[in-house]
Amino acid sequence: MKSSETSVSLETLVSLCKRRGFVYPAADIYGGINGIYDFGPLGTLLKKNIRKAWLASLENDRGPIVEIEGSLLAPEAVWKASGHVEGFHDPMIDCKNCKHRFRSDDTDFSKGCPSCGKNDFTDIRNFNMMFKTQLGALESAAATCYLRPETAQAIFVNFKNVLTTARVKMPFGIAQAGKAFRNEITPKQFLFRMREFEQMEIEWFCKPETSNDYLTFWIEHRLAFYKAIGINTEKIRIREHEKHELAHYAARCVDVEYNFPFGWKELEGIAHRGAFDLTQHTTHSGKDLAVFDEETRESYMPHVVESSIGVDRLFLTLLFDSYREDEVEGEKRIVLAFAPSIAPITVAFMPLAKKLSEPVEKLYRAVKEAGFTAQIDESGSIGKRYRRQDEIGTPFCVTYDFDSEQDHCVTVRDRDTTKQERIPADQLIDYLKNQMKKERTA
Ligand code: GAP
Repeated sequence: MKSSETSVSLETLVSLCKRRGFVYPAADIYGGINGIYDFGPLGTLLKKNIRKAWLASLENDRGPIVEIEGSLLAPEAVWKASGHVEGFHDPMIDCKNCKHRFRSDDTDFSKGCPSCGKNDFTDIRNFNMMFKTQLGALESAAATCYLRPETAQAIFVNFKNVLTTARVKMPFGIAQAGKAFRNEITPKQFLFRMREFEQMEIEWFCKPETSNDYLTFWIEHRLAFYKAIGINTEKIRIREHEKHELAHYAARCVDVEYNFPFGWKELEGIAHRGAFDLTQHTTHSGKDLAVFDEETRESYMPHVVESSIGVDRLFLTLLFDSYREDEVEGEKRIVLAFAPSIAPITVAFMPLAKKLSEPVEKLYRAVKEAGFTAQIDESGSIGKRYRRQDEIGTPFCVTYDFDSEQDHCVTVRDRDTTKQERIPADQLIDYLKNQMKKERTA
């Protein structure tokens, strides 16, 4: 049987995530903290697989991409140069009656305050979304720092360091996965808009006359990534920004949008940033970030094409995209139909009796040593164990029974089709390796 796509509410996903150890509210035992989350064991594995798939997708035939890990804090000078001190704000409005605060560009006020219904608001003010802090004990302008609102700036300020130390030539890319922080006025929709989140960004440095072609190239390359991780491509679309929507740094920008239950929303931004960032940092730091072209014997400021996606937003997208409800032998089940390469646990071992634990433990160790994530699931009926693994998206369940002792075979059960296959136990690792390459089947 094949599970069909099911639409699921955000509330159902939030509760599944907590119940099964994907995501918890941060500081849960103290009541949680708005827009900030902790990731449990399964969530951590899922995030690792997301990063792994993204890293693999950096491979391309246009030039090398090297990775860096920049600091989370940077001095005010960096954020002045990048335009974030001046321009990284959202318009904010308060209800004078109930004191609720809203983003004025993102809220429908036609029926009054969305919280209390009254029509008594403050003026709209700009609210800078960066978290500001001080280094050391002295309060001075020189000690002012900000938590980074995007990972990109660490890449721009290190552009020359990388160019001169990493044996790369133009065109090339610098990539970074790491935390970013934004004091969002209204964090919402669970992992969609958070205050502490993670980005995976690629900054592609190239000659100015090639930047439009590279924008086209990166859009195609990024779309291939979504296909590779099994996202339903009918739910993905590209939308080019209108002039008035463009961020302060962008000459052009396209959003990769996903059709969430709350509408088509940005999943990733792919931007033509021109020479904006390198020029700004050259002006503000006094260090020339231009590149010398050996052929033309002239210096030029490279252009940048950027791909920027949130790990957490992609995590949420994968949950929505994979969620299925169906029936197996008259019993309802919930399935997360992740692609095998994305699923937090690849294989669950199910010994059919306590006595069989020893050979199962051996197989489990061998599979883990081969690099797969695995669990041993011993409690409850076999049906219950399957349901438990379906709900966390485990693509393969392996049962070991008394016959296995004689014929040295195990039964592998496929999550999506529920079909079972008997294979020699010593071929299990090769079997799993082959399956990992396959596209999602449900
Ligand atoms: N360097 C460009 C940049 O940061 P952005 O459109 O502001 O561009 C890029 O952010 C991506 O980061 C978004 O497409 C989204 O996936 C993710 N993102 C941004 N703000 C987020 C938030 N508050 N919570 C979760 N993810 C966020």
